[in-house]
Amino acid sequence: MEHELAQELNRALRDTTPGTLLSVMGRRLYFPKGIIAQGAEAKQFSSLADGTLGIAVKQKTPLMLSALGKQLPGMSAGEIVSYAPTAGISVLRDIWAAEIRRKNPALGNSAFSLPVVTTGLTAGVSVLCDLFLDEGQTLMAANPSWDNYGLVAEARRNAHLRLVDMFDEGGIDLSALRTALSGEAQKTGFVRIILNFPHNPTGYSPTVGEAKEICRIIGDTAEKGAKVLVICDDAYFGLRFEENIEAQSLFAYLADIHENVLAAKVDGATKEDFAWGMRCGFITFAGKNLSGAHYDALIKKTMAVIRSTISCSSTVVQNLLQKMYSSDRDALQKEKNAYRDIIEARYKKVRALVDAKKNHPLLQPMPFNSGYFMSFKCKNIDAESLRQKLLHGYGVGTIAIDERTLRVAFSALDDECINEVYAAIYRAAEELAG
Ligand SMILES: Cc1ncc(COP(=O)(O)O)c(C=O)c1O
Repeated sequence: MEHELAQELNRALRDTTPGTLLSVMGRRLYFPKGIIAQGAEAKQFSSLADGTLGIAVKQKTPLMLSALGKQLPGMSAGEIVSYAPTAGISVLRDIWAAEIRRKNPALGNSAFSLPVVTTGLTAGVSVLCDLFLDEGQTLMAANPSWDNYGLVAEARRNAHLRLVDMFDEGGIDLSALRTALSGEAQKTGFVRIILNFPHNPTGYSPTVGEAKEICRIIGDTAEKGAKVLVICDDAYFGLRFEENIEAQSLFAYLADIHENVLAAKVDGATKEDFAWGMRCGFITFAGKNLSGAHYDALIKKTMAVIRSTISCSSTVVQNLLQKMYSSDRDALQKEKNAYRDIIEARYKKVRALVDAKKNHPLLQPMPFNSGYFMSFKCKNIDAESLRQKLLHGYGVGTIAIDERTLRVAFSALDDECINEVYAAIYRAAEELAG
């Protein structure tokens, strides 16, 4: 039996695409009118004293050990040790919403939900799978993919991660993508897909034309009646190193594409703002004709996953980031550009090295033009054996994604060692092949 509050949210989402896509768990979830809701209400109206939350306070200020406070001299105890709201600190959510609009002008006047803060993008993907992916259902992703999708979709949700061969030698194999989507739509009436550009592990981003076609395929699938969830994993947003690559998130084009499409954007500070271990990501929803009440219900469902797993994200991290985003904008952007240029210079160096060995018999680079990574398809050699040889024979760390794919994070290679690393990769492959 669903809780009364869950029923209320399900009613609010009735006959909408997100309502239809909800998992059994997603339908069950609700945001309780318990401690957090009552505490938020008290914060507004408790003029004498607030005895709601389980924190220790003196003269309305949380008690904080001075050995901690002195590490962060510019911040108050409340900004460091008190609890953050379940969906995140509202100033930070507002800043991120404005950033999404600024970075994606194609959104135009399309509505989207206020972003919800999660503990990194991983949590964002996991929350969405809790809400929208059931046991036995299928989540589609590109082949190869970031390995955590399998852990979340298969090991955690007991669903099926279907990897679609959507890269060919030149870029995106649009007909393979169309066939995969229409096959799934015909079979089940639903499509759930995660699209990650710039892509991990290949380092590929669609061209402007390919992005348009991907969205057309999604729109056509929806037009034929399937309910479509598209998770846009934008972890590496903005790192484009060639001309004519789509500059905006696919989310911008999917936000208002068709009533049967729910777009969910997962993004955050992790890679975009060089804050990997700070663990701050966001989930944002958009769908044609969804109202404010629909977005509220979706946010409450999202808060329910957060409240029942991690409870809330770190207060100090959210405040640090909010202060960073509110600091001198030009200086921030200038420094980000300079860091981006470092990665681009490494990309160019790697590009030249692999282009010079275009027809290598053992190592075929997959298409790459963006992000942190590039991958080799290994021909007649095993990627794990190559990884082992590189690590133990040459002192070079790489990742064997699957039997035939070796990933190199060129973003993490100092310029001075790139030539040597790539020489080692080709040499090790040749030695393995005998
Ligand atoms: C495609 C992709 N999505 C999400 C993440 C995870 O981001 P976070 O560290 O914020 O959880 C990564 C990290 O490697 C990634 O490559």
